[in-house]
Amino acid sequence: MKRIYLSSPTIHEEEKGFVKEAFETNWVAPLGPNVNEFEKEAAAFLGEEVYAAALSSGTAALHLANLLCGVEEGDTVFCQDLTFSATANPICYQKAIPVFIDSERESWNMDPVALKKAFETYGRPRAVIAVNLYGTPAKLPEIKKLCEEWEVPLIEDAAESLGSSIKGRNAGTFGDFGILSFNGNKIITTSGGGMLLSKNEEQIDRARFLSTQSREPARHYEHKEIGYNYRMSNIVAGIGRGQLLHLMEHVEKKTALYQRYRMAFSEYDFLTMNPVPEDCLSNYWLSCVTIAPGEKLTPLSLMLALEKENIESRPIWKPMHLQPVFQSCPFVKVEERAVSEDIFERGLCLPSDIKNTEEDMDRILSILKQTMELQKGKLR
Ligand SMILES: Cc1ncc(COP(=O)(O)O)c(C=O)c1O
Repeated sequence: MKRIYLSSPTIHEEEKGFVKEAFETNWVAPLGPNVNEFEKEAAAFLGEEVYAAALSSGTAALHLANLLCGVEEGDTVFCQDLTFSATANPICYQKAIPVFIDSERESWNMDPVALKKAFETYGRPRAVIAVNLYGTPAKLPEIKKLCEEWEVPLIEDAAESLGSSIKGRNAGTFGDFGILSFNGNKIITTSGGGMLLSKNEEQIDRARFLSTQSREPARHYEHKEIGYNYRMSNIVAGIGRGQLLHLMEHVEKKTALYQRYRMAFSEYDFLTMNPVPEDCLSNYWLSCVTIAPGEKLTPLSLMLALEKENIESRPIWKPMHLQPVFQSCPFVKVEERAVSEDIFERGLCLPSDIKNTEEDMDRILSILKQTMELQKGKLR
């Protein structure tokens, strides 16, 4: 049985050309022409006069964003609750305290109402980190406005949302800092890598400095502050340059997968796809589904049925406030029952690999339908 993945890399010819050139010119280092060009090309795609620093991971980019916002021991940072732990971990690298903020139901991302409540309850944090989950932009204009009122920098975790936009403005460009991930399962990949974005060129220069061990411009090795080995390699950046040429083609294919699921589920009123607000374009990185409250059918039963047929799916991110490691951190919600918890319990990430053929989609959908019919019959 052919394995169907959740979201695996899709590589084209151009990547090989850039990597081959790096080998032929011996630019096998954490610097070189591919790194410089990848930064320029990504920034040109994003527009909005953004500058970019190519780094070893999205997590490294988040760590530097925290550093550049001045996050220090004992500070608080308001962070989206429904996300991957990589969003929150760098706050703790700085020995600061994450305050987790619940989601709203229209995009599944940080709820501006809960954010306002957090400001009123905890005062001014050192930074706010909002995430565009599964490709869908958060209510960034509203979040940004609140941050401006409280004079707090916004970090936009756009790890999952390269190619998404709100009213034509690209994800990654809304915050004082934005971050991207090029991890293997992302919309475009470099095998592993990330990028820090900002309109402030000086801050991006500083990120490049910090990410190369904070080496002062001297003939010998001179260091006045602690540095990091976070720079992207020239080989990896070559993969990124090739991938970037195919970004919008990947988005189109992800969109088609989402629409296919949506059509197929239209006959089941107890299934809803992950929502995308009207003014947004999503890159539909992952297609997700939620089962209506009160239904006996569970996401786990769908996941197990797919797994039995060698098809990969994945639970929704487990909210940060439910993670043992963050148990002692404050959590702010406005609804009695946390929205993040509700989505986690009722949701599932469906196979969203753009290499899926029509036959693969038929196979996935027929297993899902069979399981639903069976379960419903059995449970009634
Ligand atoms: C929302 C989110 N933030 C941050 C990251 C971290 O990116 P990386 O794996 O490149 O460190 C990821 C993905 O892995 C992610 O999904």
